[in-house]
Amino acid sequence: SDIELEARIVAAKATLGDRAVILGHFYQRDEVVAHADFVGDSFQLANAAQTVPNAEAIVFCGVHFMAETADILARSDQAVILPNLAAGCSMADMADIDSVTECWEALEDLYGTEPDETDRVPVIPVTYMNSSAALKAFCGEHGGIVCTSSNAATVLEWAFERGQRVLFFPDQHLGRNTAKAMGVPLEQMPMWNPRKELGGSDAQQLHDARVILWHGFCSVHKRFNVDQIDKARVEFPGVRVIVHPECPMAVVDAADEAGSTDYIRKAIAAATEPTVFAIGTEVNMVNRLAAEYPQHTIFCLDPVVCPCSTMYRIHPGYLAWVLEGLVRGEVINRIEVPADVAEPARVALERMLAVRP
Ligand code: 13P
Ligand code: SF4
Repeated sequence: SDIELEARIVAAKATLGDRAVILGHFYQRDEVVAHADFVGDSFQLANAAQTVPNAEAIVFCGVHFMAETADILARSDQAVILPNLAAGCSMADMADIDSVTECWEALEDLYGTEPDETDRVPVIPVTYMNSSAALKAFCGEHGGIVCTSSNAATVLEWAFERGQRVLFFPDQHLGRNTAKAMGVPLEQMPMWNPRKELGGSDAQQLHDARVILWHGFCSVHKRFNVDQIDKARVEFPGVRVIVHPECPMAVVDAADEAGSTDYIRKAIAAATEPTVFAIGTEVNMVNRLAAEYPQHTIFCLDPVVCPCSTMYRIHPGYLAWVLEGLVRGEVINRIEVPADVAEPARVALERMLAVRP
């Protein structure tokens, strides 16, 4: 039962003490968040993985790419554990190393590899944190960098200082929304299309490009739409609409603000007057905020279809299982990025960590 699971987790944690640390993403279910030593957005969790020196194990309650990142950044003698190995991210799966390499080679054919007179290379690759370690390694090896939704604009500025243009993967929406807010015109943000020959108007569009977008998207955030925002504004005049930048451009444009999960949390925490908030992000997080801040009215723009099903796969039963494994001295579901991938991936991640938002 839930009560038994809760008791097993509490008991295992008490036995382990600071030998194990539990990190949890904001999208985790309440029954998991209740046991986390640190809860945050993906940038904060990447930082946290570097700042738990006493932990022999980091139990990562989030999705696969986050656990990989923790493993890359943590000390090699610290085991990173993903309680359920089936907790992936469908967006991260939308870009793989072979297709990105194919795109990169086509762009090299088109733009060459020589820097211009201001020493900017033709293209800088930027990967969203929501990507495999192999893609982070690709960025590390090709002068590129990682970004999260909380630092995407600062990272793009970093990239534009070093490159004439950016190849941004996997999330088209974060790339488009961020570059648009920085003043890049939409016609200078073509989407890479591997099925088209590099000729005719496509080649011209790519030639003029400032940001080349990959076709990935988040299946949770793409469900938000402008009708939901319009409806919220009719029902609650004065409502503050805040959405995650993984939402489509029209939704971000129609909202009052867009920002990472931590941005959303802080915006609500900072509101001094009772306020109505309509939020466009994962529903578990929104419901938790609604319970935490009863002085405000807080609701998800789409309460029916917006849980992240893979985040939800971290059931307390898995958490109890891996913690009890650690008590017995057994490491279950370890995520280990091979050194030849981890080293270049760390280069790209450290570039990001050095560029403060
Ligand atoms: P944050 O970086 O805002 O936590 O977002 C992570 C994520 O997966 C959003 O879908
Ligand atoms: Fe991936 Fe979307 Fe889930 Fe975030 S909400 S982990 S981007 S599927």
